[in-house]
Amino acid sequence: MVKINNPDLSIRLQFFPGLILMALSLSLTGPVFADEVEEAAAQPEYSKGANQCMACHREGRQPAGHEIFLTTMGISDSERSPFADGRHDCETCHGPSDAHRKRAKDGSRPLPTFTFDENNPAAEQNQVCMACHDDGGRMHWPGSVHEEEEVACASCHELHAERDPAMDKVAQQERCFACHQRTRAETLRNSSHPLRFGDMGCTDCHNPHNGNNDALLVQANINDTCYRCHAEKRGPYLWEHAPVSEDCTLCHRPHGSNHAALLKQRSPLLCQQCHSSSGHPSTAYTSDATENTFQQRFLLGRSCGNCHSQVHGSNHPSGILLTR
Ligand code: HEC
Ligand code: HEC
Ligand code: HEC
Ligand code: HEC
Ligand code: HEC
Ligand code: HEC
Ligand code: HEC
Ligand code: HEC
Ligand code: HEC
Ligand code: HEC
Repeated sequence: MVKINNPDLSIRLQFFPGLILMALSLSLTGPVFADEVEEAAAQPEYSKGANQCMACHREGRQPAGHEIFLTTMGISDSERSPFADGRHDCETCHGPSDAHRKRAKDGSRPLPTFTFDENNPAAEQNQVCMACHDDGGRMHWPGSVHEEEEVACASCHELHAERDPAMDKVAQQERCFACHQRTRAETLRNSSHPLRFGDMGCTDCHNPHNGNNDALLVQANINDTCYRCHAEKRGPYLWEHAPVSEDCTLCHRPHGSNHAALLKQRSPLLCQQCHSSSGHPSTAYTSDATENTFQQRFLLGRSCGNCHSQVHGSNHPSGILLTR
């Protein structure tokens, strides 16, 4: 392609007599020609590959860009890789950026055509990634809360890092907490899943791309997510406790709680939310009751659990009251 705004245009034109003719004929139409010149000038071009970029973005330079060659995306021999034959290397994502390599007349450096920052809306940034990644775990990205809230792929992912923080169980949490501060507070409570020790990550329960499931969970619903690790709670039980098979979060807070065993409330209050109007449980036990030795067993120790110990369900023939 010949760049019409090139200062060497006059020289080049000598080599392209056809172009002179074209330019002459166009010049007859005056203003239209000016428009076309502008359009041609705005048409960005690709450079000749990653080497061109690495001259300035190599290790030790600021800003560096070399780390991408240490990631799966950089080393993959997949035809889908941005660095595969027929693609445009760095410019697969950053757009044709030949002009960026040189300084403009005023000494400034034109930016690459595409950057992953506030210059471009999240939806446009994400389109670049989804051109290759609309498969697997991201099939249900469209329509997910994160897509609708315009969260950019690059808010969680770092492409120019040897180890993308999103792929690390501890580092990913910091990414999430940047926006989900309440969840951070929850994971620091007395009783919590071992998130802060790195034994678990958010992605043991959530798939941040999958809008198909409730609360972006890895399974279709809450209980199936919990059963992945707490399989014994699935039963089947001879005597089920209705709320358990319905929804674990009726009693538990998945991220953390100040009550033991991630419970939403202490017993007996926990149980009395639902069991308040029949038989002995209807009594609303208060601290006064601790003076009465008979009533103490409803309050102290494991409270209701002192007798109804099989709160998740019982397999004992006479366990109908979840006592054994
Ligand atoms: C001659 C040196 C040089 C070359 C060659 C070069 N860059 Fe840059 N690039 C820079 C400098 C300097 C910056 C820092 C921003 C600035 O001062 O304009 C930069 C910034 C960038 C940024 C960040 C822009 C931002 O605002 O976040 C990207 C992305 C980028 N370059 C991509 C590329 C790509 C892709 C190529 C190859 C086509 C390339 N660069 C080639 C010097 C260069
Ligand atoms: C797969 C898409 C993709 C490819 C390929 C890619 N980049 Fe980037 N680049 C990004 C994203 C996304 C960001 C935003 C920051 C981040 O995620 O790390 C970025 C940011 C940058 C920055 C700014 C970094 C900073 O610290 O401000 C530079 C410079 C850059 N890229 C250069 C390059 C160079 C040079 C290449 C080729 C060797 C390249 N990029 C290849 C996606 C890509
Ligand atoms: C031109 C195609 C292409 C584009 C565009 C692209 N990727 Fe990739 N990406 C790949 C390939 C190929 C791999 C290697 C793994 C594979 O084969 O699936 C990969 C791997 C990844 C991985 C997995 C890293 C790992 O350790 O397993 C992440 C995360 C990722 N890409 C995020 C992004 C994001 C975010 C963007 C947009 C800024 C993006 N990609 C743009 C082709 C692409
Ligand atoms: C809210 C944060 C977040 C956003 C936004 C996000 N991701 Fe991810 N992504 C993650 C986390 C965390 C993982 C690691 C999953 C794991 O550990 O199983 C991941 C894993 C991946 C992987 C590698 C695993 C796989 O399934 O192959 C790819 C590829 C990927 N993301 C691409 C994208 C693309 C493309 C976008 C934008 C459309 C995006 N991600 C947006 C957090 C995010
Ligand atoms: C750039 C900000 C941002 C980042 C980073 C982010 N999120 Fe979100 N997330 C949001 C917004 C906005 C919403 C919707 C409003 C809300 O529920 O707070 C949301 C909603 C959610 C929801 C609730 C979905 C629902 O259906 O109710 C979950 C779960 C979630 N995010 C998990 C994560 C995880 C896990 C990570 C880290 C891998 C993460 N988010 C990183 C912004 C972010
Ligand atoms: C043990 C499984 C599990 C882990 C680990 C987990 N979550 Fe959740 N998360 C859930 C469940 C279940 C819900 C739905 C709660 C509900 O609907 O009551 C949820 C809901 C959310 C919500 C929606 C708002 C709310 O609090 O209800 C956000 C945001 C969220 N999680 C972020 C995170 C982040 C960030 C991490 C990692 C630090 C994380 N989660 C780790 C199970 C988990
Ligand atoms: C990826 C595996 C995993 C998933 C999924 C999971 N958990 Fe856990 N859970 C654990 C681990 C590990 C512990 C800690 C066990 C320990 O400390 O001995 C734990 C502990 C617990 C505890 C006891 C805490 C205590 O202090 O005694 C409760 C209650 C619990 N999980 C409920 C849930 C609920 C509800 C869900 C679904 C929202 C769920 N878990 C999903 C792995 C998981
Ligand atoms: C009716 C309230 C309730 C529901 C619903 C419930 N739990 Fe519990 N869970 C408890 C109580 C109370 C304890 C504490 C028991 C104790 O003190 O031994 C507990 C303890 C636990 C523990 C730690 C001790 C142990 O038994 O391993 C795990 C794990 C657990 N629950 C998982 C689950 C899962 C998974 C679900 C959903 C399938 C669920 N719970 C539903 C009340 C409930
Ligand atoms: C979310 C509401 C809810 C909570 C919280 C709850 N239960 Fe239940 N419980 C039920 C329902 C519903 C049944 C089934 C009642 C029926 O079949 O008539 C039930 C049945 C029982 C039964 C069997 C007796 C019967 O009538 O079948 C016992 C015992 C019991 N619960 C004890 C407890 C204890 C102890 C706690 C606290 C750890 C507790 N429940 C918390 C809803 C709840
Ligand atoms: C000292 C042991 C003990 C304690 C503590 C205890 N229960 Fe019971 N519970 C029983 C016995 C025994 C029965 C059966 C008695 C009956 O049928 O009248 C029963 C019956 C029940 C029933 C079935 C009642 C019905 O109407 O069919 C429920 C529900 C129940 N308990 C819930 C609770 C709750 C909630 C607590 C905590 C506030 C609690 N229990 C504390 C021993 C106990």
